[in-house]
Amino acid sequence: MKLLNPGPVTLTERVRAALQQPDLCHREPEFFQMQRRIREGLTAVYDCSDEYASVLMTGSGTAAVEAMVGSLVGPGEKPALVVANGVYGERMAAMLHRHGRRYDVVHSAWTEPMDLAAVSERIGQSACVLAVHHETTTGRLNDLASLGELCRRFQVPLLLDAVSSFGGEEIRFEEWNLQACAATANKCLHGVPGISFVVARRDALEAPGHSPALYLDLQNYYALQEKDGSPFTQAVQACYGLDEALVELRDQGGWRVRRDLYRQ
Ligand SMILES: Cc1ncc(COP(=O)(O)O)c(C=O)c1O
Repeated sequence: MKLLNPGPVTLTERVRAALQQPDLCHREPEFFQMQRRIREGLTAVYDCSDEYASVLMTGSGTAAVEAMVGSLVGPGEKPALVVANGVYGERMAAMLHRHGRRYDVVHSAWTEPMDLAAVSERIGQSACVLAVHHETTTGRLNDLASLGELCRRFQVPLLLDAVSSFGGEEIRFEEWNLQACAATANKCLHGVPGISFVVARRDALEAPGHSPALYLDLQNYYALQEKDGSPFTQAVQACYGLDEALVELRDQGGWRVRRDLYRQ
């Protein structure tokens, strides 16, 4: 069967074969070698500077988005600003609501672009901006160059849901003042479902976290993964798939080539 949805994608034979590797415990040195390789491979997709690191977690894309939102948005005085023009922007607002955080939402109709005029009016009073790169429900690629420019100009950190764009669209980490982006193995990277990740600035990962959830505590994952550990059982076979998928992406020419393929 050929899958024509944005993800999970149809696996290549190469990635499928990688799933057959020997059983491995997530507390063995062999696993930690792979975990380290994947984490480095993820930041290498966009040639991120050493100021960024990735955190690997078992769960679907929503787990990574919720870990990012819950761990990096604190209870401070200023509200977070969510830019929503589809299901996934609204879902980040729902996460903030459940976590009891202060937030505002700049809504647009699902058929409309992000309302950047409203963002520029409110960004100065906001602790951070949360947005969705590719709103998968409508297929809209949001104008992150303009939003990122605002975030950089106002020095407000940007938290990005890049679940359906990471590996297949341009992401400018420094230029967009990106504090973190969350994504998953089984969309543009062509891995299997079950493993997701956050790429974030190390200073944010090393600062005290805010996660109300034990499982989704990004700073805890980071601290342990930096020491070649893992707080919980990882989906080992999904890691095998992502490890191979990252090598395949590199062999094929990287995100630019994949973007061209999708555009065709
Ligand atoms: C932009 C975006 N964010 C979040 C998600 C949620 O990911 P998951 O279904 O893997 O939890 C998706 C899934 O399609 C998505 O496209």
